[in-house]
Amino acid sequence: MLTMSAKAANVRPSATMALNARARELSRAGEEIINLTAGEPDFDTPENIKRAAADAMAKGFTKYTPAEGIRELREAVCMKLLKDNSLEYAPEEIVVSCGAKHSIFNALQSVINDGDEVIIPSPYWVSYAEQVVLAGGIPVFAETPCLDSERIREKISAKTKAIIVNSPNNPTGAVYGVNELKSTAGLARDAGAFIISDEIYEKLVYGKAHRSIAEFAKERTIVVNGVSKAYAMTGWRIGYAAGPAGVMKIASAVQSHTTGSANSIAQKAAMEALTGNQATVEVMRKEFEGRRDFVVKRLQEIGFRCTKPEGAFYAFPEVPRAMASTAFAGFLLDNGVAVVPGIEFGSDRHVRLSYATSMDKLEKAMELVEKAMEGYASRCKSVGWQK
Ligand SMILES: Cc1ncc(COP(=O)(O)O)c(C=O)c1O
Repeated sequence: MLTMSAKAANVRPSATMALNARARELSRAGEEIINLTAGEPDFDTPENIKRAAADAMAKGFTKYTPAEGIRELREAVCMKLLKDNSLEYAPEEIVVSCGAKHSIFNALQSVINDGDEVIIPSPYWVSYAEQVVLAGGIPVFAETPCLDSERIREKISAKTKAIIVNSPNNPTGAVYGVNELKSTAGLARDAGAFIISDEIYEKLVYGKAHRSIAEFAKERTIVVNGVSKAYAMTGWRIGYAAGPAGVMKIASAVQSHTTGSANSIAQKAAMEALTGNQATVEVMRKEFEGRRDFVVKRLQEIGFRCTKPEGAFYAFPEVPRAMASTAFAGFLLDNGVAVVPGIEFGSDRHVRLSYATSMDKLEKAMELVEKAMEGYASRCKSVGWQK
């Protein structure tokens, strides 16, 4: 009998991608759906970056590159980490991959043995747990939206091999402060564990400064970042990791036998993104901040409990008490708005709305949600369904 890999067969496809696809299908079938599931900026990639790619192609930069990425790009990453994060790395400690997602995958493949535990603060981004399982590890969830070190300490065992930290956070929008990062770094040190620090939303912060946990435990941290979110380059697939040379050497070897390297043309584009004019980053950040203010205000007016996110581009309101997150996401889809159920991120009490879409669409979406909730409240005969 033909049998599948038990490890791979248990992996669920990315729920955000699946929902996005369902919302698009409904739209194609003529339904008017406002899609707030997307995890990508709605802006186009800046022109200077596109030109760098066109130039690379015109010059025939279309061949294999070293597995770990071209040296100029790794040098540009080192400069970025020094300038933005006060972190000193050598190009040998950098591996460029096909997106931050791939960088996290390589990091996990490089450090996890079968049965190792990886602590994932919850709510969490959907891919962490699945990638830990693919690496043979066991995801251990610590319920702590604020990176409370006590909650993490409770989950540490002799098998703890790594802790994943994601700030700014998807889905909560939390940006962790120095105290939380320092305490978590101390816990990892005491446990002899690695830290995988996913900083892909670094540039999208609204008032609170981004800090890297590597400042407090560089010797055991693998910093993951990339160009997808800050430069509206999700489709170009360039991410990178910086970490101890021994780990990065293995990550590069793993990559050399899988993708080989990241796309040569996209690497040149990423170099322009990191070293070229940064003005567009601030334009996009400002726009996201305005949308965040609008969406959170409207959600709160409608009656949702919703913490103001400090970073990324998601709102994470609580769902009505009587409904699970999947049922509530289905209810909103029936009313023309696609969102992601919080259960996908480890919280059945929330849904995630992306505000990486135009203000017009957000205004319309909030009107539809308001109307839906008015109908819901009158059906439940409950004024204040949320409180
Ligand atoms: C927290 C987080 N990390 C990593 C990624 C993946 O980034 P990339 O597109 O560079 O692979 C995403 C994308 O949604 C994300 O939300």
